[in-house]
Amino acid sequence: MKKISIVVPFLFIFLVGTMFAGCGSSNNPAPAALSVSTATLPNGTIGVAYSQTLAATGGTSPYTWAVTVGTLPAGLTLAGATGVISGTPTTAATSTFTVTVTDASSATASQSLSITIAAAGVDTTPDPFSFTAQADVTLSTVITSNTITIAGINSPAPISITGGAYSINGGAFTSTDGTVSNGQTVAVQHTSSASNSTVTTTTLTIGGVSGTFTSTTVAAAGADTTPDPFSFTAQTGVALSTVITSNTITVAGINSPAPISITGGAYSINGGAFISTDGTVTNGQTVAVQHTSSASNNTVTTTTLTIGGVSAAFTSTTLAAAVDAAALYQSLCAGCHILGTVDTTGFAPDLSGLNTVPSNFTPGVATAHNGATITLSAAEIAALSEYVLAN
Ligand code: HEC
Repeated sequence: MKKISIVVPFLFIFLVGTMFAGCGSSNNPAPAALSVSTATLPNGTIGVAYSQTLAATGGTSPYTWAVTVGTLPAGLTLAGATGVISGTPTTAATSTFTVTVTDASSATASQSLSITIAAAGVDTTPDPFSFTAQADVTLSTVITSNTITIAGINSPAPISITGGAYSINGGAFTSTDGTVSNGQTVAVQHTSSASNSTVTTTTLTIGGVSGTFTSTTVAAAGADTTPDPFSFTAQTGVALSTVITSNTITVAGINSPAPISITGGAYSINGGAFISTDGTVTNGQTVAVQHTSSASNNTVTTTTLTIGGVSAAFTSTTLAAAVDAAALYQSLCAGCHILGTVDTTGFAPDLSGLNTVPSNFTPGVATAHNGATITLSAAEIAALSEYVLAN
């Protein structure tokens, strides 16, 4: 096989070569007239690399190319030897120009063409950003955040702030709305609270994306901001994708406002709105937490509330998936028990109408059952029991 595949192309070239040699030399036809066959060119986008090859027919190669009237869009060039128009456009505009091809015998042909360069899609929504919360800061002091770098935008985005001031690229701090460009850095600043253990929050918004910066002042001397332990009651069997609210706890054992923060949910103080930003809580106030339960069956969602360094988790577990008793029976039992059929083999009894499934299996325990080892949950035992009674 290998040998043939090498021999055939040689043979072919030989035959074709012979044919041309035999009939060509005496009356070569005049070459077709030279013409540019490229009639249109695709449009481009600022910043996106562009490459197209002009084509000609007829005449005698080699061809050389030139722009003879007008100019190409800014950023693009034409390679004379190859007819390739390439580069990265820099300006949004429509350029109309004429290309001329010259062949080996100096014949020429021209074609008018145009390329429209469009502005890139405008993206003013930056990647998410966040500031590091600062704890134990001095009272009534200007506190400056860490610096973030704006990423993910290709056009200047609006920037605004509440509860503080911002600085772009290390410039002056301002609270007036402005614009920020990709790659610029931003820091924010606010004056810390005049009270101990109190949170001050600044919210920076860029192109619709917000990040908060918080500082918490130091506790007063002799202050006790460590509350008595508290706990939330776990909830089980909750509906999927549902907002679940915990029991309410009462903050005790502190004599000064204590910082409160949450992960994986939101909290409410004294029945107020549920929020997830850091804050402070005082002795005797009540707190409840909230989260959205999992979208999957039998899945735990955890929210952790921290007050003055003491944490407690609130969990909810979604309900187990409904048991498909018929399918379960088919896969685990039907190999031995045949429903509704008089037991002819004498091996396994007909379970139809029997009420003995629960007494034969213990929930969650691998049970040796006449040669099989079967583990069933309480829900599965209940479902199978109902199923054999009804069938
Ligand atoms: C490997 C075969 C086998 C499998 C699989 C099997 N069984 Fe059995 N089962 C038996 C046999 C054999 C008996 C009768 C044993 C006896 O009477 O001592 C029995 C007895 C029972 C009984 C007692 C019946 C009565 O008369 O009270 C119940 C209930 C039962 N099985 C339920 C199930 C269920 C539910 C499943 C599926 C989850 C299952 N079995 C799977 C073989 C099997």
